[in-house]
Formats: sequence, structure tokens, C-alpha cells
Amino acid sequence: MLKISNLKLKSNLILAPMAGITDLPFRMLCRKFGAELAFVEMINCRSISHKSRKTRHMLSTLAEDKPLGVQILGCEEKYILKALDVLRTYEFDIMDFNAACPAKKVVRRGEGAALLKEPKKLNKLLKLVVRNSKIPVTVKMRLGWDKDSINAREVALYAQDAGVSGVFIHGRTKIQEYGGNVDYELIAKVKKALSIPVIASGDVFSAKLAKKMLSETNCDALVIARGSFGNPWIFKEIKEFLKTGKVIARPARAKVIKIMLEHLDASIAFYEERNGVILFRKFFGWYTKGIRNIRPLREKSSRAKTREEMVGLIELLRGNLNKWIRNNQQ
Ligand SMILES: Cc1cc2nc3c(=O)[nH]c(=O)nc-3n(C[C@H](O)[C@H](O)[C@H](O)COP(=O)(O)O)c2cc1C
Repeated sequence: MLKISNLKLKSNLILAPMAGITDLPFRMLCRKFGAELAFVEMINCRSISHKSRKTRHMLSTLAEDKPLGVQILGCEEKYILKALDVLRTYEFDIMDFNAACPAKKVVRRGEGAALLKEPKKLNKLLKLVVRNSKIPVTVKMRLGWDKDSINAREVALYAQDAGVSGVFIHGRTKIQEYGGNVDYELIAKVKKALSIPVIASGDVFSAKLAKKMLSETNCDALVIARGSFGNPWIFKEIKEFLKTGKVIARPARAKVIKIMLEHLDASIAFYEERNGVILFRKFFGWYTKGIRNIRPLREKSSRAKTREEMVGLIELLRGNLNKWIRNNQQ
């Protein structure tokens, strides 16, 4: 259904690379609901080259966690080459180069979205990555630095020229970060200009918005990011809606609770109890979005440190809380 160089994907629904989110437990959960391709959390080339325990843990995977991409961040050739050396010992299916991250500490170093200001430098770095990688290379970019310097078409053409096999484009500028509207028209212009697959990102919060992104941009595939928070079944909803035009119901409360418990246990298995519970806290907040009077439980969840405490809070959701509100269907 989607081909990125020699990588054949069964569907065009992709879980976005997200720092602090797309760890092994979350990837496996999203795959269960139909995410076809997933990425590990973005990793800086310097960190990869240092091979720290934390980085190796972030890069760890399972046989079923496939197809899997890695996303690298960097702007210094020396560290990029070192990172590629390390990554060659792993079995990733695709490598994405980040030219989109708007975080201050990233752009200050000339990495991530800062590279949008230097398309020629980006072109050179991408050529280096493509030359030294055995797996398909893609780039993740934004529309430009700010609304007065939109250069997505130019950057994407430079990337294509460098030999990348696909372009991921978040339809916002660096200055917009994650706010304001996604510009479908500009994504469509990039798609029209390129001969390689263009994968669109931005505000895919529902099946209807997924369809809108596909039809307004003519893109080849979709990246789901915040739409998956507390909502990993969004992949199933989108798949079904694109196939039949029907909006399927959100899982019943008992099912959501089961998913939460599975997610919590996977997090504990991956990080051990204390860290697994702490990292699950934010997911508790997302899973319970839209429940009336949830605040006291959320506050308790933000202090939970043991499995027993967190399970106790999840189990309370079976009680007499007011109705779940169907979230995010726009
Ligand atoms: C918490 C968070 C972390 C993110 N981390 C990354 C990242 O590491 N690499 C990346 O390319 N994009 C990252 N993104 C951007 C998403 O991949 C996506 O392009 C963006 O959120 C727009 O999609 P959305 O509007 O559907 O959320 C991140 C987004 C969020 C919300």
C-alpha cells in the first residue's frame, strides 16, 4: 500500500516519532490497533555515539515491533557518522533525519528546525546520511522557520536531491510549534513538487481529520502524533472510516481500563516499577480526558509511585464516575 524505497508497508498509518512518548510499550500498544510503521523516540547523534545505557535502552525493541524506524538529530558530520556506525549494529527498517524539532535547546545548537534556515547544509547532511546508510533515509521537516520564511517546497526539493526516500512534513512553522492551524495547502504544494512519498503530519486527531488531510494534501501517508494520546485505537478508527465511511464507537469503559492496565504493566516491565509508574502518569491523564470530576484522581495519579497505587486509581474508574465523554471526534 505504501512503498518507501524498498520498505513495503501494509497501510499508510504511521505512529509519529515522539520524544518521551514513543517508547516500546506505547509503540506495541499502537501497533495492536493498526499503526503500521512506528519510530523510536528521537535521539541525538552525540548520545547515540556515546552508547550510554539510557540510549541503548531507548533503542531496544522486540521482534514484533516491526517495521521500525529510528530518528536521528544532529548537525555535526563527525557525530552523525559515529551514530550511523552504532546504528548499523541494529535492525531498523528506516532512518529519519530530524529537521523539524522546535525545542530551544535543539535549535540553539543548529539542529532540528534550525536546519530549515539552511537548506543547502541540510542537503549536505542528508547526502552524508544517505551515503552511509543501508536502510532508506527520510527527513522530517516543517513548513519553514516562520510565516515570513516559508520554504517547505525548496527544503523538500533539496532533500529529494540528496537522495532521501521520503519526506515527512508537519504542516506548521517552527514558530508555531504545536499551535495554530495546519496548512494543508502548503503540504499539497510539497506533495506536488516531489516524486518521492510525502507523509503528512499535523492535527490528525480523528478519523475525519485523517480523511481531510489525505484528500486536501493528496499525501501518500499520515503521521499520527497527539491524536494517539490516551487514544491508541485512533489507528483502528481511521482505518475503518477510510474503508467504510463509518465512525466506530470508542471502546467501552471496561475495555479502556483493560488497555490502561496493560499499558501500565508494559511500562513497568520496560522501566521497572518506579520509573514505569512515573512515566505512565501522563498517560493516565490522557486516558481519562473528558471524564467529569476526574481532577482529584488525576492529582493522585501524578503522585503515584507504585503499581499498587496506580492500579488502585485505574480500578476506581470502574466506579460511579460520570460518563466518559467521547473525545476528539470532530
Ligand atoms: C510530546 C511530543 C513529542 C514530539 N517529539 C517529536 C520527535 O521526537 N521527533 C519528531 O519528528 N517530531 C516530534 N513531535 C512532533 C510530532 O511528530 C508531530 O509532527 C506533531 O505533533 C504534529 O502532529 P499532531 O498535530 O498530530 O500532534 C513531537 C510531538 C509531541 C506532541
